[in-house]
Amino acid sequence: MNLRFFKHWLTDPATVGAVAPSSRYLANAMAEGVEAFEAIVEIGAGTGVVTDSLIRRHPSAKLIVFELANQLAAELRGQFPQAHVVGGAFHENLSVLRDLPAKTIFVSGLPFRSLSPRIVEPTVAAFAELLHADKARRLVQFTYQPRVPFTAPKGLCWHRIKTVWLNTPPANVWHLSSKANGRRSGAVRPVSTRAARAISSHTPTP
Ligand SMILES: C[S@@+](CC[C@H](N)C(=O)[O-])C[C@H]1O[C@@H](n2cnc3c(N)ncnc32)[C@H](O)[C@@H]1O
Repeated sequence: MNLRFFKHWLTDPATVGAVAPSSRYLANAMAEGVEAFEAIVEIGAGTGVVTDSLIRRHPSAKLIVFELANQLAAELRGQFPQAHVVGGAFHENLSVLRDLPAKTIFVSGLPFRSLSPRIVEPTVAAFAELLHADKARRLVQFTYQPRVPFTAPKGLCWHRIKTVWLNTPPANVWHLSSKANGRRSGAVRPVSTRAARAISSHTPTP
């Protein structure tokens, strides 16, 4: 158990929405394909497991990282001096994203299923606007449940990319992108019975 993560979970379980930081396997799955983008925006970085994979995969990308908990944000700044780390809620700090290149990828660890609607609604609206700005853009998100992270905003669709078994609990990696980017909207694969069984035996979180 990661002590920093556990302390944060004790103070605010709903905004953490996980029982442990992501495994290295899940972090690597979240970082797959980021080389094709000029900028990476990570939201809900926690203790930086996914941040580390993103930097290893694409060290020259412009990297902006959001983390709600100021203490964790301060630690991320020390850990990843090459990143621009923003402490506070993502939807309240969008001005930082004014000059993003068209080819930007968003990588989120936000626990949408446990966050309050007061946070989910403006956050989803912000993602919709950021993704509509260019059809090559993409949001990468994981869930512990066999259903989409949130209802896809108009003009966007979810694709389930893979299930990562070596994580506590097993997790699904999803991509949200424009319906016009060439992928068929029917490409979302149903989660297998095995996945559903394993997932439902764990605490429901993001
Ligand atoms: C499930 S943890 C994921 C941490 C890390 N990405 C990982 O995979 O181990 C969710 C993180 O999102 C952060 N968070 C929750 N709501 C947020 C918001 N509105 N803006 C930025 N970060 C947020 C929490 O503080 C927490 O560190």
